[in-house]
Parts: sequence; structure tokens; C-alpha cells
Amino acid sequence: MIAKIVLDKKREGHALGSAEIREFIEGFTAGRIPDYQMSALAMAICCRGMTERETADLTDAMRRSGKCLEWSEITADKHSTGGVGDKLSLIIQPLAAACGVCVPSLTGRGLGITGGTADKLETIPGYSCSQSLARFQEIVRTVGVSMAVQTDEITPADKKLYALRDVTGTVASIPLIVASILSKKLAEGAGTLVFDVKTGKGAFMKTREDAAALAHALVDGARAAGRKAAALVTSMDAPLGRAVGNANEVAEALAILRGDAPEGGGPMTELSVEFAALMVSLARDLSLDEARALCRERLADGQACAKFEAMVAAHGGDLARFESLLGRPTFKFRIQAMRSGHVTAIDAEKVGRVALALGAGREQAGDRIDPLAGVTLAVGVGDRVAVGEPLATLERSTDPEGLERAATDLFRAFEIAPEVVTPRPLILEVIS
Ligand code: URA
Repeated sequence: MIAKIVLDKKREGHALGSAEIREFIEGFTAGRIPDYQMSALAMAICCRGMTERETADLTDAMRRSGKCLEWSEITADKHSTGGVGDKLSLIIQPLAAACGVCVPSLTGRGLGITGGTADKLETIPGYSCSQSLARFQEIVRTVGVSMAVQTDEITPADKKLYALRDVTGTVASIPLIVASILSKKLAEGAGTLVFDVKTGKGAFMKTREDAAALAHALVDGARAAGRKAAALVTSMDAPLGRAVGNANEVAEALAILRGDAPEGGGPMTELSVEFAALMVSLARDLSLDEARALCRERLADGQACAKFEAMVAAHGGDLARFESLLGRPTFKFRIQAMRSGHVTAIDAEKVGRVALALGAGREQAGDRIDPLAGVTLAVGVGDRVAVGEPLATLERSTDPEGLERAATDLFRAFEIAPEVVTPRPLILEVIS
């Protein structure tokens, strides 16, 4: 029986053959190989690892478990491993589209402290991320960008396997993570893939070394599959920007797209331009400097914002109703500095946990989220504060109970000290 041979082989640390991997994944997808054997293989892979070739075979087998899209247009997509306050996709994808690249972006819903782009977008009244693949393709072709959720037709093997990994302690394995992320991105069909691999307190990859290893593996895997690829390893010690939640993050991204953000959006704008420029330079064979200049121009002249608005409309969203949603009354609680000094750290994980507890995220798949729940920071790392000045506001739509307790937890996320600190650069490593 093939499953038993494969399990014995991997348990003993041997490399599996391409056909063995393909047959195992085909059997699992079709239900011939039961969950317990797949879980055993996932655990053996966690403990024994996989060679680059095995990882590529696993990725390919998972990609082929469902439909694979093909595009005649120039296409690119950016994938983030997720972080607290990470709303950059909302800026980057329309920005790349405004620079002449079609962006088919199948994105995820949030689980745990890292939010999901789909949940953020669906706070825009009417916006639906659940589109048929045909409609998704039509929006990409007509508007230039679509951000929708992965349907059951794309990589069903990954969907089944991820659910098992989540409950069998087998998430933390680079070959399994690479196969999971890449199979979906390859099936989506974009010719260029750019990865944002986050590291730090609020990220899935806690150490820079692990993040760099994952970034290299993703880029190598994408190139081996015939795609152009690059990655940035970026810091996720402090939340990205000021908003952590859903609707408040969309509002922050919209302000950058509209050119209304304080200080031009600061590091968030810089990072968005960098990612979009990588996509555009690879996809359109431009130099990185040319692509950066084009991205800055498209952000400044409103074309990136126009792409975002057109994408929202194509998905049924109504931005005028979104503005009224933002004006809806909520329960709020403000925390303030108890001492004067400089903000030396804001722990992204702690802020993410508070936002989750307020209802901005899901503890379990299927939980309902409160679109207006979240945290809005009043300060960033490096800012000076005096006693009594605001540090952050917590917000939720219902149930004021728990706000005060969450506020105590949020307060612990801030470090204030006499010394001046300069925020560290967000980009830690470039793999291009
Ligand atoms: N994201 C995924 O899609 N898969 C993983 O395995 C980890 C993060």
C-alpha cells in the first residue's frame, strides 16, 4: 500500500519520489488516503524536512489538486505572511494595477492575531470577496485588479491539509508552509509573485533567520515553477501604521490612496511603493528605479485610488455607505501616557491580541467579526509623549464590558522611556 511505504520512508528521513508525493496528494484529495495518514506524513515532514525537489513536487501536486488559472495578460500578485495592522495589500494591488499590470489576488480571511484582507474589504458595505472564478477573471481583465477569496476549486488539497495541520501541531514546517502558500499562488496563475515575509513579535515567523529561510524558499520555489519572483523580509515588531482592526484599516489605506494621510502615509507609503515597484519592474521588465518612479506618479495622480474604487464597485461595494459606517456610534475607551518620555516599543502581538479580544478577529474559523472593532494608535515608535497624552483608542460596536480590561492589556504593549529612539527600518532583507 503506497501510503504506508511513503510514511515509513519519510519517518526514516529518506527523500520521497515525485510519483509517491503526487499519488499521496491525489489519494488524500480524493478521500482514498484518510486524514490520519496525511497527518502522519505532515508530522514526518515537520520532523525530517524535505529537499528542495520534494518541496517543489509537493507544491506542484497540491497546485494540481484543483483548477489552475491562465492569463494572457501581464500579471503579478503580492502575498504577505500576515501581520498586525497589515493593510498594505489594499494599497499595493491597485497601485500595481494602475501601473499596467493585471493583479489577480486570491486572499484570505483572518485567523488569530493577523487580520485577513478579505475581512477588511468586506467592511465596505456590499463588497463581496466570494466570486466565482469566472467573475474573478472578468474583474481582473476589465478593471485590472480583483481581490477575492480562494474558492473551493483552487487547491482543495491545501484546504484539507491546512485544517489538519492546524490541529496536529504541523503548521511550523518550512516545506509545508512553502507548498501551502505557493500552490495557491501558482494556481492563481500570476506570472510574477512578490512575497512580504514578516518577522517579529506580531508575525508568524518570530526570528529573522526563519523568515529569511522562508523568503528564500518561496522565491526559489516560484522561480522553479517558471514565475518571476522576489521577496522582502520586513519587520513586524510594532503594528504597521496606526489602525488595527478592519474598517479602520480600510480607512487608513484609503487615506493613503487619496493622498490625505498625515505625513503622506510615512513608512506605509514607502513600503507600498517598494512592493508595487518590485511587482511592476519584474512583470514589465522595467528597472526598479523606473518602476518606483511610475508607482509614485500613479499614487500621486489618483490613478491607484481610481483602480481601488473601480475594484470596489465591481465587487458590489459602496464607498459612500462605508463613510457612513465609519460615522456610526461605537463604544470607545482611550488610554493615555502615565509618564513622559519617548515611545520605544509598541508590541504588535499584544496590540493584535487586544484587537482580537475586542472582536476584530476570529479565534476560530467561522467566528463573526465586528467591522468597527479595533485599536487606533495615537502615537508611533519614536514619538515623544507627555503624561496624560493619548496613546491609543479601543473601539467596538456592542458590549462595552471588557473594554476596560482590554485597555489594561493594551497599555502593557507600550514602552515609554527617557531615551530618544529612531524607528528601525521596516525592510530587513531584499531577495530579488
Ligand atoms: N499561510 C498559508 O497559506 N499556509 C501556511 O502553511 C502558512 C501560512
